[in-house]
Amino acid sequence: MNKIVIAIDGYSGCGKSSTAKAVAKDLGYTYIDSGAMYRAATLHFLNNFLSPSNPHDVEKGLKSLEISFHLNPDTHKQETYLNGLNVEGEIRTMRISNKVSEVATVAAIRKELVAQQQRLGKKKGVVMDGRDIGSVVFPNADLKVFMTADLDTRAIRRQEELLEKGELVDLQEIKANLADRDRVDSSRVESPLKKMPDALEVDTSNITFAEQVGKIVHSARQIIDKQESYAGKH
Ligand code: CDP
Repeated sequence: MNKIVIAIDGYSGCGKSSTAKAVAKDLGYTYIDSGAMYRAATLHFLNNFLSPSNPHDVEKGLKSLEISFHLNPDTHKQETYLNGLNVEGEIRTMRISNKVSEVATVAAIRKELVAQQQRLGKKKGVVMDGRDIGSVVFPNADLKVFMTADLDTRAIRRQEELLEKGELVDLQEIKANLADRDRVDSSRVESPLKKMPDALEVDTSNITFAEQVGKIVHSARQIIDKQESYAGKH
């Protein structure tokens, strides 16, 4: 079967990662969480007392930064590693959420992570989620999706996710963090978050998880079929 590249972008906490994961599973594709890479880079800078606004620190930080993904054999979930250490839990904490958008504004950091993401997506059969996937990382993606949801819905979902991981965070604090990241991510000079004209918009405020996954898988299958019938005729 013909394999395609699916780019999913959208606001903070609107369910991109879980949706992208389910779409990848349904199609038998690889899922790549680009946000996890920005989060791991943020942890690396914090752990080493490096400032993302100091060019020397950025150079030093990037030289010693190695991010990889490995499947956990017990949970069958993909986990993020930073310089050989499993950081999956740590990168999802509010400590990192409060810093990550600042780190993600730095051009040199984006350049390095985008290059890594493009290498990971080379073989097609990939679903990647983030903020600039359809605009910068894979501008020729076969399917681009832009996900949204209202702020209250996103905050409640994120609070539940954090609670499941043992972190109880006030709803107002989560709302403020999501709104702040949306603002920084959408207004930055380098690769701002924006809906591409050719992206399929999926508002997840009032639909079920199965419905949002179904919509994307349906569009993906239509594109695959179209490409296959085109290839058959030529
Ligand atoms: O899961 P959540 O919506 O909280 O965010 P994430 O996908 O883990 O991304 C965390 C942060 O990384 C975002 O708020 C952006 O600042 C940054 N990011 C980015 O700039 N570009 C990407 N492709 C992915 C994430």
